[in-house]
Amino acid sequence: MTVKQAMLRDLGSRDFEFINLVKEIRNQLLELGNVSQAKGYECVIMQGSGTFGMESMISSALAKDGHLLVLVNGAYGERISKMAKVQGIRYDALTYDEDQAPSVQELDEFLAKNPSVTHVVVVHCETTTGIFNPIKEYGTVIKKHGKRYMVDAMSSFGAVPVDLAECHIDFLVSSSNKCIEGVPGFSFTLVSQGGLKECEGRARSLSLDLYAQWKGLENNGQFRFTPPTHSLLAYHQAIKELYEEGGVEGRSARYQHNYQTLVGGMRKMGFTEYLPAEKQGYIITTFNHPEHKNFDFNAFYEKLNERGFAIYPGKLTKADCFRIGNIGRISTEDVKALLAAIAEVKAEMDF
Ligand SMILES: Cc1ncc(COP(=O)(O)O)c(C=O)c1O
Repeated sequence: MTVKQAMLRDLGSRDFEFINLVKEIRNQLLELGNVSQAKGYECVIMQGSGTFGMESMISSALAKDGHLLVLVNGAYGERISKMAKVQGIRYDALTYDEDQAPSVQELDEFLAKNPSVTHVVVVHCETTTGIFNPIKEYGTVIKKHGKRYMVDAMSSFGAVPVDLAECHIDFLVSSSNKCIEGVPGFSFTLVSQGGLKECEGRARSLSLDLYAQWKGLENNGQFRFTPPTHSLLAYHQAIKELYEEGGVEGRSARYQHNYQTLVGGMRKMGFTEYLPAEKQGYIITTFNHPEHKNFDFNAFYEKLNERGFAIYPGKLTKADCFRIGNIGRISTEDVKALLAAIAEVKAEMDF
């Protein structure tokens, strides 16, 4: 509510107040990643959703003779491979089942055998299942081989603590409408100054040029093209509320508590999770469809919707599942209300 209210005013995109607000947000985002300009990192905000941010990074960072290695265990990893293909970038993918994290050892072996690789990219929380991939362990291996390391932290940044320097991350992308709880409108890249500098002159797109965007923001504080002023106003408020909640640690605690409440209640009703608990992250949880002739996902979805709850269909290639997300201003009371609604629908559908 307060985040949406912050949008009820207009600021000119060249207004001093707006320029200062953007500057503050960029510094705060670096701080949330435990880095700063003084520590050698930059924050570049890019118009467009998370996919635009990922494409900006991929299309700006790899040189003409660059070689990208994509670690894949879900739809968002697959999407990165697709971006490389569309951009005509040389790439390889190490692909795993959706319930497996890409292997640190196989990454190490691949990099040892393929010295031409220049960049490695992985999704932190693969939202397809909600699995958390071990980004710190990959970082150690990637650093050892001297490659640039890119992370899609779309559905983790702001609610899962991350220290970019400690994980040796050169590029980390997230977007405005995920764990920081803003509204849609932009994505951002936290990038090492070394990684950013290499991007100069490499872009395959004018509007998604990460280096040019950074240069514009640094030179006069302005965006090169119309910025999402209202989303940024909302974001400023959302970050304030994140700090009030105790920063990333505080938000992480709420999401974890909601996740525990959710799975505890679902298990009591006989639902099972797709991933083993040690692999399942606390951002979004995948549940197997109950094996019962009366269960029909569309009817289940509709009945929950009528009661004011929106869940996600599955996105898996091999298993019939649905997902329940924790991102957003969701309290434990809200999770309990959802569980009560699921119990009601389950009784009504008789499965
Ligand atoms: C891990 C991950 N990467 C990328 C995206 C794409 O973001 P968008 O839909 O904002 O383009 C999403 C969206 O949910 C995501 O969860």
